[in-house]
Amino acid sequence: MKASDTKATLSFSNGGQPVELPIYKGTMGPDVIDIRKLYAQTGMFTYDPGFMSTASCESAITYIDGDKGELLYRGYPIEQLATNCDYLETCYLLLNGDLPNAEQKAKFSDTVTHHTMVNEQMQFFLRGFRRDAHPMAIMTGLVGALSAFYHDSTDINNPAHREISAVRLIAKMPTLVAMAYKYNMGQPYMYPRNDLSYAGNFLHMMFATPCEEYKVSPVLERALDRIFILHADHEQNASTSTVRLCGSSGTNPFAAIAAGVACLWGPAHGGANEAALNMLYDIQKEGGVEKIGEFIKKVKDKNSSVKLMGFGHRVYKNYDPRAKLMQETCNEVLTEMGLEKDPLFALAKQLEKIALEDEYFVSRKLYPNVDFYSGIVQRAIGIPVNLFTGIFALARTVGWIAQLNEMIGDPDYKIGRPRQLFEGSPKRDVKPIASR
Ligand code: SDX
Repeated sequence: MKASDTKATLSFSNGGQPVELPIYKGTMGPDVIDIRKLYAQTGMFTYDPGFMSTASCESAITYIDGDKGELLYRGYPIEQLATNCDYLETCYLLLNGDLPNAEQKAKFSDTVTHHTMVNEQMQFFLRGFRRDAHPMAIMTGLVGALSAFYHDSTDINNPAHREISAVRLIAKMPTLVAMAYKYNMGQPYMYPRNDLSYAGNFLHMMFATPCEEYKVSPVLERALDRIFILHADHEQNASTSTVRLCGSSGTNPFAAIAAGVACLWGPAHGGANEAALNMLYDIQKEGGVEKIGEFIKKVKDKNSSVKLMGFGHRVYKNYDPRAKLMQETCNEVLTEMGLEKDPLFALAKQLEKIALEDEYFVSRKLYPNVDFYSGIVQRAIGIPVNLFTGIFALARTVGWIAQLNEMIGDPDYKIGRPRQLFEGSPKRDVKPIASR
């Protein structure tokens, strides 16, 4: 960042000394006012619950223009990456800052492929769960447990440890998500296969059984790879901020990523894809398209706490570019599966149309986000609803790692430790219990 020649001057109506605050410019997007010295100079904190107006860091990884509905990974538009690249190329880009050439891509893919197995002990860890445990509960446990197997690479301040942990996490997330699914199904785990692509290997570990040869569908393989690309990173969202804050204590990468998995699970964040599909199922059960009006009425009723899941975004005040690409992928997969008449897809498109013409949504700039269509395409691929967020976590792992490494790689980083506006009781003395 570079200091601009403009400054912000904070003046106080109570006669306090005005304070000058430097303003910095980035490559793109809003400038920032550096308030790091504010407390020392004024004895006051800023106040911004939910961080609506707060930049927590400087970053060169992902840029979002919420007004234009634009998303760039290291400067490349998501539309171009989703069309011209695959997920492992995108991982390389996010981690290293530029797209790999053919040799770099081959080496990176080969390295990831040869780290896809997990320690055989992991299967016994799963046995502690009920068979119907939610996959995200299993994933939160498994990812944290990885740190118990890699004592040779848990020093987050060691670049070599960060590099091997990044490869291990990217390589093993698909294996762990597939194991969680097989555990739910009561089916045997399928070992990873080194002759398959990243997405093809995941499909194999999910849907193959020891009883017969499983053929990976190239259309589903490509669709899943694109879904991974669309979810790979997204600036300082809740789970990425969680990973940064967790990692800032110096904890190991596996523990920091496990914190990200736990945060992503929430329905306001990565859990919205599961919630969006369940919302569509409910409307379908109530009677489908003709019940949309009734549902929208509930959403607009402040007392109902019903939200149109998969709609709205803190940053996008225009169409989420990922939602558009996801809708296209939906079309491709449903056509391939002979499900182009899928009633749920028709319902979703009608729901979107009605919402985008309704003043409530228009005035609040609420558009479909990445989670609105992703459930429909994952369901068509055969992925169960409760595994959607696990797939999101699988794909977002590379973004979490890239953001964590960017923070740790900055020699000036400090442990994150926000302050508060205290509104509790003034100091008081403990009374003996007899007189309370
Ligand atoms: C992800 O941050 C990221 O980048 C996240 C993510 C990523 O890739 O990491 O993009 C992934 O999490 C996408 C978002 C998935 N969540 C959902 O789809 C859940 C439904 N959406 C909402 O919960 C909400 O839109 C949020 C949480 C996504 C954003 O909430 P904000 O920015 O805090 O906005 P808000 O709740 O203050 O909403 C502003 C107004 C409110 O109405 P008023 O009080 O002004 O009358 O819009 C309303 C809200 O009630 N509103 C909705 C709504 N979303 C916002 N009303 C109905 N349905 C919705 N979905």
